[in-house]
Amino acid sequence: MKMGSTNPLFKGQSLSFPKKLFPFALYALLPLALLRLYLYPLRLPPPPPDSHLLQSTITSSSHSSSSESEEEKPNETPPCDYFNGKWIRDTRGPLYNGTTCGTIKEGQNCIRHGRPDTSYLYWRWKPAHCNLPRFEPISFLQLLNHKHVAFVGDSMARNQLESLLCMLSTVSTPNLVYRNGEDNKFRKWHFASHNVTISVYWSPFLVKGVEKSSTGPDHNKLYLDLVDETWAKDLNQIDLIVLSIGHWFLHPAVYHEGDSVLGCHYCPGLNHTEIGFYEVLRKALRTTLKGIVERRSLDNRDDGIKVTVTTFSPAHFEGEWDKFGACPKTEPLLEKEPEGMDYDMRKIEVEEVEAARANYNARKFGLEVLDVTKLALMRPDGHPGAYMYPFPFADGVKERVQNDCVHWCLPGPIDTWNEIFLQMIRNWNNDHPGEVIG
Ligand SMILES: *[C@@H]1O[C@H](CO)[C@@H](O)[C@H](O)[C@H]1NC(C)=O
Ligand SMILES: *[C@@H]1O[C@H](CO)[C@@H](O)[C@H](O)[C@H]1NC(C)=O
Ligand SMILES: *[C@@H]1O[C@H](CO)[C@@H](O)[C@H](O)[C@H]1NC(C)=O
Repeated sequence: MKMGSTNPLFKGQSLSFPKKLFPFALYALLPLALLRLYLYPLRLPPPPPDSHLLQSTITSSSHSSSSESEEEKPNETPPCDYFNGKWIRDTRGPLYNGTTCGTIKEGQNCIRHGRPDTSYLYWRWKPAHCNLPRFEPISFLQLLNHKHVAFVGDSMARNQLESLLCMLSTVSTPNLVYRNGEDNKFRKWHFASHNVTISVYWSPFLVKGVEKSSTGPDHNKLYLDLVDETWAKDLNQIDLIVLSIGHWFLHPAVYHEGDSVLGCHYCPGLNHTEIGFYEVLRKALRTTLKGIVERRSLDNRDDGIKVTVTTFSPAHFEGEWDKFGACPKTEPLLEKEPEGMDYDMRKIEVEEVEAARANYNARKFGLEVLDVTKLALMRPDGHPGAYMYPFPFADGVKERVQNDCVHWCLPGPIDTWNEIFLQMIRNWNNDHPGEVIG
């Protein structure tokens, strides 16, 4: 199960660590760093920014407003594009801290782990043509009264979920009502104050997958035409589903479709065609979105499910992942456009949501993109780095140290994802038209 020294990527390289040093948080981290170093030495030329995609994504997030209200407000200003802007200083700081919130995963609790600088906590995202309101926990809980929000995906889905829980916990205490799986891969909380349920499902491919393990295959197996039942079986109880995947697609894998093997990614020794992971990510998302819509359509319910895809969150390794200061920045970048793999992963995710929206009843199913790739890319300062472990330099600075430059410190920049998520929910709800445009 763990990405240990059995990973074929490690063979022949002097990277051996005791297995217990590879916690869950590192699943995504190691192959990512290594793949970037060894499989993508060439930088792709930066493609032109596809701003029309962004714009149409945001514009269509207003489609919940009925045609009636559009007639009433012919001169309505265009909806806010929350996904282009800059990070600006904000003295207020986060809503919670590493000691006040009990649900932060150890490896992301940077404050408690002694990260010495705190200036990464004092920024807010300023969209170019509007303002993003600060997260309002009460408002979130009120809007989702009697509803169930599920976060489904990999450790980035969990990172976003834990940020949300911490912010909501400042106004209402959640009860953990369900817990299952190694390392709490499946959990559910209930906010009794507003009858809101929030859950997390571990499903790093969204489609059916068998993860590599010490006893099973030494690569992941994906079944690209089947959704993963671990979450799909509960679809009839979910009102809003947040999908967040990406990093796990970089792992060595064999891809199945129907009864045949479509190909593989990094599977030396197996007689399969290397097909990379981009089209695989596309197929997985397509199967997932189709599966969600079809199942909910069969349910005969009037209320459709809302689906949000959080786009790829870039890693920020500078050089070797296990050297001191692998993600050394302490301030956001002023401006940067996604390129290379970050660009391609995001583009596929956006395109598949657009395609689903064109194919299915968009109003009923509320298919949306939470397009964080650019705002995430501009926050190289927000990762735990060596502070994924408590006080890593208590005995002095070490040259070789494990770093997490993929996940986000909590509190940290990922709290902003949920600020935007709340705005999307407001748009859907259409009960607060005045607040939709900041
Ligand atoms: C965290 O918040 C609590 C309560 O507001 C406060 O007492 C404590 O000093 C804060 N800790 C840090 C590290 O900011
Ligand atoms: C809480 O919400 C669920 C739907 O998520 C609903 O079935 C249930 O009746 C609600 N409970 C109360 C007490 O309103
Ligand atoms: C590999 O696959 C090809 C095409 O399916 C087949 O012709 C060949 O015999 C296979 N080689 C081995 C070693 O299995």
